[in-house]
Amino acid sequence: MTTHIARLEAIADLEALKAACLRVFSPAEGEQVVFGEGPERARLMMIGEAPGEQEAESGRPFVGNAGRLLDKYLAEAGMDRGEVYITNVLKVRPPGNRTPRKSEIKEALPFLLRQIELVHPVILVCLGSISVQAVIDPKAKITEIRGKWVEKDGLQIMPTFHPSAVFHDESKREGLKRDLKEAGKRLKSLE
Ligand code: URA
Repeated sequence: MTTHIARLEAIADLEALKAACLRVFSPAEGEQVVFGEGPERARLMMIGEAPGEQEAESGRPFVGNAGRLLDKYLAEAGMDRGEVYITNVLKVRPPGNRTPRKSEIKEALPFLLRQIELVHPVILVCLGSISVQAVIDPKAKITEIRGKWVEKDGLQIMPTFHPSAVFHDESKREGLKRDLKEAGKRLKSLE
């Protein structure tokens, strides 16, 4: 792992990092690695959990139902998806969309951290507890931490609910909308 991380630090751009992900992560047959997409130097970056079925099929993050909801609330928050860099903690779909295992998160995290360094956003939005625990604190509880800005390594991080969570629990909708609006407001204030 050490040599692995040392080599990642030497990777100087997103294309090279994507190529490394394509070498390291093996998607199931008929599926693709979902590296992430957006402007190379986006000021806001969003991090979800892992690609779902439609994402793995298309190779693009958040293109299914959760993605449509995200796009809608981003627009309501005055942001355009095109100005945001979107990725996930895991770069391949866990079989059957199960929750990512600790070992999978551990393997994928160095790639995500390098990706954050290369995009160099000012604001990060962590969508859901897998993202919050991977990026902010492994012990964080999403229900306690959401909606509260966290400063870490020079980044302003907004932890919020995963858009998919809204489909199972309607009470999370307003929180997600509010947190994205807060992120949009902070982004504008930093212009
Ligand atoms: N859920 C995620 O966490 N990421 C995606 O890209 C799609 C759904």
